[in-house]
Amino acid sequence: MTLGIVAALHEEIADLLAEMAPGAHVEHIGMRDYHVGKLHGHDCVIVLARIGKVAAAATTTALIHRFDVDEIIFTGLAGGLAHGLSVGDVVVADTFVQHDMDASPLFPRFEIPLLGRAAFDTAPALRDALAQAACDWLAEEMPAQVGAALRAELQITAPRVHVGKIASGDRFVSSAQEVDRLRDALPEALAVEMEGAAVAQVCHEYGIPFAVMRTLSDAADDDAHVDFARFLREVASRYSHGILRRFLTARQA
Ligand code: ADE
Repeated sequence: MTLGIVAALHEEIADLLAEMAPGAHVEHIGMRDYHVGKLHGHDCVIVLARIGKVAAAATTTALIHRFDVDEIIFTGLAGGLAHGLSVGDVVVADTFVQHDMDASPLFPRFEIPLLGRAAFDTAPALRDALAQAACDWLAEEMPAQVGAALRAELQITAPRVHVGKIASGDRFVSSAQEVDRLRDALPEALAVEMEGAAVAQVCHEYGIPFAVMRTLSDAADDDAHVDFARFLREVASRYSHGILRRFLTARQA
């Protein structure tokens, strides 16, 4: 059983790569480094996809074809869309939609043309295990790994785990106006990011179970770029590494 672990930015997998480094080897394919090795007894391939849906789709396809992975987890950051969510919360996706897919009037808005669907579900067992790992890590380990001063500065007070819809598109959302437009169009969406729905579509097409975990770095509003950069630099890797370590250790090797 081989697990593919994917992220869009180096900071989101830096600690995982460091942990896997002894004994791992690297295969360079299509301008990406695939790190092949073991994490907590599990065969894993970790790869930096880079940002956007094309990058995520290409990387996912290579993981399936060249590395024969059995399941895929994508980890990273997202902007919060739904009311009541806060920076530092974790969103585990149960379904994905591409918010920038619009071939109307030929096809309904958001539907992937000729595939006949707009929504792609994550694998329930992987999703539930990730959500549990996130709850456990936030409750038991996060306060020691993200210092109190940093938490106070970033206003991470009582972070929670949410399971729900995530919207993906090739745009960094950074205005209150755009948040309103997305809320109107996709009222159920909890968060917005730039890769998950592409991974979801490829995994659907190949029948590969997958799940996605996103930490909220910003509120997708006018300050999003500043909040995102800070969170990425100082917190992202802690969350990814901590939650995936809990996820892997809770599984039978
Ligand atoms: N990833 C993290 N924050 C984001 C945002 N505001 N828009 C798109 N992707 C993101």
